[in-house]
Formats: sequence, structure tokens, C-alpha cells
Amino acid sequence: MALTDEHLELLAVSNADRSAAIRQVENNADTIFTWDYNKGARPALTKLYEKAKHSQWDGETDLDWSIDVDQEALVRQAGIPNRELLLQLGVDITGTSFERWGEREWLNLEIETSNWVLSQFLHGEQGALVCTAKIVETVPWIDAKFYAATQVMDEARHVEVFARYLDTKLSGWYPVNTHLQALLDDIINDHRWDMTYLGMQVMVEGLALAAFGNMANQTFDPLLRQLLRYVMSDEARHVAFGLISLKELYGELTEAELFERQEFAYDAAIRMRDRFQRQEVWERVGVDVKEAIRTFTAADPNDDPFQQLLFAKIVPNCKRLGLLDANNGWLRQRFEEMRVIQFEDAMDTEAEYELLDAVAHDRAAASAEG
Ligand SMILES: [Fe+2]
Ligand SMILES: [Fe+2]
Repeated sequence: MALTDEHLELLAVSNADRSAAIRQVENNADTIFTWDYNKGARPALTKLYEKAKHSQWDGETDLDWSIDVDQEALVRQAGIPNRELLLQLGVDITGTSFERWGEREWLNLEIETSNWVLSQFLHGEQGALVCTAKIVETVPWIDAKFYAATQVMDEARHVEVFARYLDTKLSGWYPVNTHLQALLDDIINDHRWDMTYLGMQVMVEGLALAAFGNMANQTFDPLLRQLLRYVMSDEARHVAFGLISLKELYGELTEAELFERQEFAYDAAIRMRDRFQRQEVWERVGVDVKEAIRTFTAADPNDDPFQQLLFAKIVPNCKRLGLLDANNGWLRQRFEEMRVIQFEDAMDTEAEYELLDAVAHDRAAASAEG
């Protein structure tokens, strides 16, 4: 399957509303009070809530903000792209405007890319802040309202630290990517309370957990590594919150109701695959967006191993929720087409979160010392 013109048109869309300071989105869900205060009715959620209360960290004092970040030096350390290196990665720039690029242009592209990636992390964190505040209002269970309240605090801290990192350590901001915004809009628009969980805790945060892990392993910046490890220890708990809550509900749904969840998960997966095109970066560095996407995207967008890795947490978690195999394996077939089904038996995040919590704090402590 080659990249079609239609798909290219869709991928090339970038944020056209970049001067806006606010965005208003219609929230169609009912706010639910519950008079059943029987805390402890759901022991897995109670345990998670207790854990969250004791795992709060402080973005002001726990991270070493005195570390100086030299973006140019970091790019040089990681290796500046060039024609030969790109060819080894399967990207051929022959006959494109990139052929004329020298070291300065490639260096600048890498710096702008990290500004863009961190900006999208930041906007995604605000999405999580808003979605989880919505869960506090819409979920009918008291234990889930308690837990979600701790997550709201976690997300405020994540927005705080990413914004500070961008503002004081990097060299520019980007507006929210159109595909990410569309996904956040879909989640907020939906009137069913469990769709907030499915869209945010399972899909967006599942992808964030994989993306933060990749970046923490690759970055040469000790401050960013430390920041990501701390954030990941919270994110693993957030994904586990989604799994624990939805497992209970999905056990009671009909096949037709489950099909709506399968479709929602698939649409979210496609939007997330399509957001990693750096559309706004290409505009800023003065390259035609379609030309750049044609050059840098594999002929088949499902063929990119980096993209596939981002689904390493989502696929086993969907399996755990019964979404892969409901309706004769409808979602399983879609994930096969996306070539991400190989992750179905990876550890799901309910099993993984305690592990990640311990590892994150140990590593963060070690990197602060060393
Ligand atoms: Fe977060
Ligand atoms: Fe989160």
C-alpha cells in the first residue's frame, strides 16, 4: 500500500489558528453526583489512590533546574543528519529541496523538531489535565472520583514542568498539532463517560508512556531524562487507572456497545499515527509540507518501526479490555493492518505500573546524583 494523494492531503494539514490564546470545545457529558460513599468497594482503585497520594513529587524542587541545556551541542552529540545517514534509514533525498541543505539547515531542523516534540508533549499534558477533571465529574463511582482527583494534580505538575523546560531550556514553542487537537476534541465532545478513559487513559497516555520511554532512553540531556522518568512513573499509574475502571464496565457491555469502543480506539490510533509528521516544523523551516512528508514518510505509513513502537502499550491494554477480540476480532484485524499486533502479549500496564514507579524514582535519584 503506497501513500495515496488523499492520505497525503490529510497528513499535510497543519494548525491554521496559531495565534489563538484559547480554544473552546463543547462538552456533552452529564455531571454525576453519587451518594454512595462506600470507599473500598473497588480495592484495586483504592490501592491506586493510596499509591498516588504517596507518590506526589514537586516539579520545583525534585528536578535539577540548574542543569544547562545546549541544544546545538545535544544535536551534535546525537549526530547531525546528512544524506548518507538518511539513506541508511531508507530516506532518499535525491531530487528534493533537501539536496541543497548543508549542516546549518539540518542542525536547525533537529533543534526545531525538539521544540515541536516537547510542545506537543506539553499540549497533550493539558489535554490529560482537562480530560481527567472531566472524569471527576462524570464517573459514577466515588473511588474513581478520588483517584481521578490525584491524577488532576499529577497533570498540573506535568504541564508545569514541560512548560518550564520549553520556556527556560529550549528555543521556541509550537501550537498544538491539528491531529492531536482533533483527537482531544473527540474525547471531550463524547457524552459517554467511559470514552474519556478510553481516549485519554488507554490511547493517549498509553502512547505517551511509550514515547516518553523512547525519548528518556535516547536523550543526552540529564535534565530531560530525569523529568521524563518522573512523569512516566505517574503516567503508568494513569494508564492502570483506565484499565482497572474499564475492565469492570466492559465486562457488562453488549457486542454492539463494544463495537463502538473498538471503532473509537481505532480512530484514535490512526489520528495518533498521523500526528508525528512535524507539519508545523516544515512550515517554519520553509519546506513544502507535502514534499517533506513524501520524502520522510515510508511509502506505507504502517511500515515505520518507530511508529510501531509507540503502540507497544496500547495493544496489550486493548487486549486486556477485550477490545481486540470482540466482534470477531475486528480491532485485531485493524491492528494487523497497522502492523502493531506483535505487541499483544507484551506486559499490560496494570501489571507494569508498580515496576515503573520504582524504576522511575530510582533512576531519577541516580541521575540527580551522577
Ligand atoms: Fe501527564
Ligand atoms: Fe497522565
